[in-house]
This record gives sequence, structure tokens and C-alpha cells, in this order.
Amino acid sequence: MKNAMTHLAAIAALLLAGPALAQGKAAPSWGPGADDAAFTRMLAASFKDKGIAKVDRLTQDETQAFCSDPEAAASPAAAEKRQRIEAANMATVKWPSDGKWLGDWKEGEKIAQSGRGNTWTDKPGEPNGGNCYNCHQISPAEISYGTIGPSLLQYGALRGGDEETMKAAWAKIYNAKSLNACSNMPRAGHMGILAEAQIKHLMALLFDPASPVNAKTGPAK
Ligand code: HEC
Repeated sequence: MKNAMTHLAAIAALLLAGPALAQGKAAPSWGPGADDAAFTRMLAASFKDKGIAKVDRLTQDETQAFCSDPEAAASPAAAEKRQRIEAANMATVKWPSDGKWLGDWKEGEKIAQSGRGNTWTDKPGEPNGGNCYNCHQISPAEISYGTIGPSLLQYGALRGGDEETMKAAWAKIYNAKSLNACSNMPRAGHMGILAEAQIKHLMALLFDPASPVNAKTGPAK
């Protein structure tokens, strides 16, 4: 095993050094100290439009460009910029048009379960999934979930349902970077992944007292 690891490390070192050696330049085309121009050329040469998946997805907006340098983005010197980016993302949030926060939690569960959508095999206008279980524990019955995000079990039961709490959850789902500039959570509403009605269903999954997310927990029977 140790030998295999050493071997892998050697290959990784070669791969890292490869582009720089080949071009006789100091900067690698990716990784720390990358030559961004070379990387951009490589990306442009590697992808093409196919179906609804267009190459313009590679064009970063200000938030993505800022967060692509994680060290700089997290530095104390960037605090003001982080706040400005959060405010700009908050300004994109479209609130429920009829003032109602909650839809149907059963629909919400289906949306949370589905990671489908936005690939070149999908038709334009087809609804996407929310992919929420990829990163969150949500309903107790689903035991297959990712842990990049916090558990959302008991979400409404623990937080209640006042206006401010609803607003924060809606903003998080609509545009996660409105509350945390470089959040790893996708901006579901802002990026046009989920529609208003779908966000309401997800809100119901989190807040409806009848949702399994908020089921009373007790001693095992
Ligand atoms: C790629 C991973 C990822 C996906 C997919 C994802 N989230 Fe998140 N989510 C996170 C992370 C990480 C956090 C906490 C850190 C942060 O971004 O602020 C979070 C935070 C949250 C919060 C706030 C939690 C709190 O403490 O109040 C809510 C609500 C939430 N997510 C709901 C959802 C819903 C609903 C979906 C599906 C539409 C979803 N998330 C999809 C990663 C993800």
C-alpha cells in the first residue's frame, strides 16, 4: 500500500509538473500559481455547445470569480468584498409572488430526491431536481445522503415558522450566496434550476409540521 501511495504521489507530481515542463514555463496550467490564460484555452478547447448545455456556462460571474481564489476570498482583507457580494446576491432573490411560503411537502421530497436536470440530454423547459440529498440529511426515512451541508432534520420544529426564519430559508434556497458569499450550495433559484412553486414545495418539506422532517422523535419502540 505504501509503495502504491508513493507511486501515486510521483505520478501526481509528474502530472502537475507536466504542462510547465512541456511549455518550458514556470507556471502550471492549473493548481496553485496557475497560468489562468492556458487553463482558459484548455477549457475552451475541451467543451462545445450540446443541446441545452452551452459553453457560456464556463463564463464566471463576479461571485464565482471571487470565490475561485478561496484563500484570497476568505482573507480578512476581503471581508468588505464578501459583504458586497452577499448583498448583490441577496438583491437577486425573488420572494414568493403571492406571499405564501409553503407548498406541498410531498412534492418537496420528490424535488429534494431528484438530481436530474440541466444536462445536454434534457429538453429545454423540463423541470430540474433540487439535488438536496446530495449534501443534506432531510427526511429520516432516507438514509442515503451527503454531508457537505448540515442536517436539515427537525428544521421547522427547531426553528419555528416566523417571517424572518422563512425569509432566511427561502433566500438560502433561492440564492445560497446571499448569506455566505462562497457557499458550496448551488444557487437554485438564481441559476434558474428551480422555479418558485418548486421552492415552495421544498420550504414545506422543511417547515410543514406534517412533513417527516419535523416528525416527533422519541425513544425507539
Ligand atoms: C453541493 C452541496 C449542497 C446542495 C446540493 C444543497 N446544499 Fe443546502 N447547504 C449546503 C451547505 C454547505 C450549507 C451550509 C453552509 C453554507 O453554505 O452557508 C447549506 C445550507 C443550507 C440551509 C441552511 C441551513 C441552516 O443552518 O439554517 C438550508 C435551508 C439548505 N441548505 C437547504 C437546501 C435545499 C432545500 C437544497 C436542495 C434544493 C440544498 N440545500 C442543496 C450545501 C448544499
